[in-house]
Amino acid sequence: MEVIKLRELKKAYRHKSNETPALSGINLTIRQGELVAIMGPSGSGKSTLLNILGLMDSPSSGEYYLNGQSVHQIRKHKAHITRNQMIGFVFQNFALLKDYTAQDNVLLPLTYRKLRNNERVAKAKYYLQKVGLAEHVHKKPDELSGGQQQRVAIARALAAEPALILADEPTGNLDRKTGEDIMELLQEINREGKTVIIVTHDMELAKKCHRIIELVDGIIHTDRPNLASSIVNEYEL
Ligand SMILES: Nc1ncnc2c1ncn2[C@@H]1O[C@H](COP(=O)(O)OP(=O)(O)O)[C@@H](O)[C@H]1O
Ligand SMILES: [Mg+2]
Repeated sequence: MEVIKLRELKKAYRHKSNETPALSGINLTIRQGELVAIMGPSGSGKSTLLNILGLMDSPSSGEYYLNGQSVHQIRKHKAHITRNQMIGFVFQNFALLKDYTAQDNVLLPLTYRKLRNNERVAKAKYYLQKVGLAEHVHKKPDELSGGQQQRVAIARALAAEPALILADEPTGNLDRKTGEDIMELLQEINREGKTVIIVTHDMELAKKCHRIIELVDGIIHTDRPNLASSIVNEYEL
């Protein structure tokens, strides 16, 4: 099944009389269960693309189908509900609320769920345990290391149980070893069936993905299967 389908997607940022083109005609299909790396130089449009995929920004023209449904037609006031249910987002700077504990951060996307309070807390605890933070649920971000904070952010992205996880340079603020651990966690999440799209500058991390897309100046320069990673996956099966 096609989770994402883009047709001639374009984005230009308008500021007074200036227009900065960021995406200049993207055609892309991503299927359920893929693990995709998006690479490319700074300013090539990676974050713009991810923000549009994550319904945090809208394209200037072109079509975006999410699970077969035209995003164009999802009315604005419903965008956050769809986003919350269908997409989990992980940021380079973690984007946690600093006065909230790990558990309260993970509870946030569950606020509007029709769940009993104890069910919500159980879910938050379950996902924190899944990312290896069972012992740290009551700590605030400044009591956790960078890698642990990113784990909280991943638990928060998983909490609403979306089928799609988008991560914009999730290891960009972490040292190499911690970054590799976070990448392993994202691979594990993908193996459990979620579609995962990761923007990264790091070729070593991209090599762990099944498909590598390179953006240059707002267009897809290359889009290729990563054969090395597929072979690894076959052995794992
Ligand atoms: N909010 C914005 N307003 C104006 N221009 C922007 C904005 N965000 C990004 N851009 C421009 O769009 C282009 C693509 O940026 P971006 O998507 O952030 O690239 P990347 O993530 O690959 O570094 C760049 O030229 C950048 O300067
Ligand atoms: Mg960026």
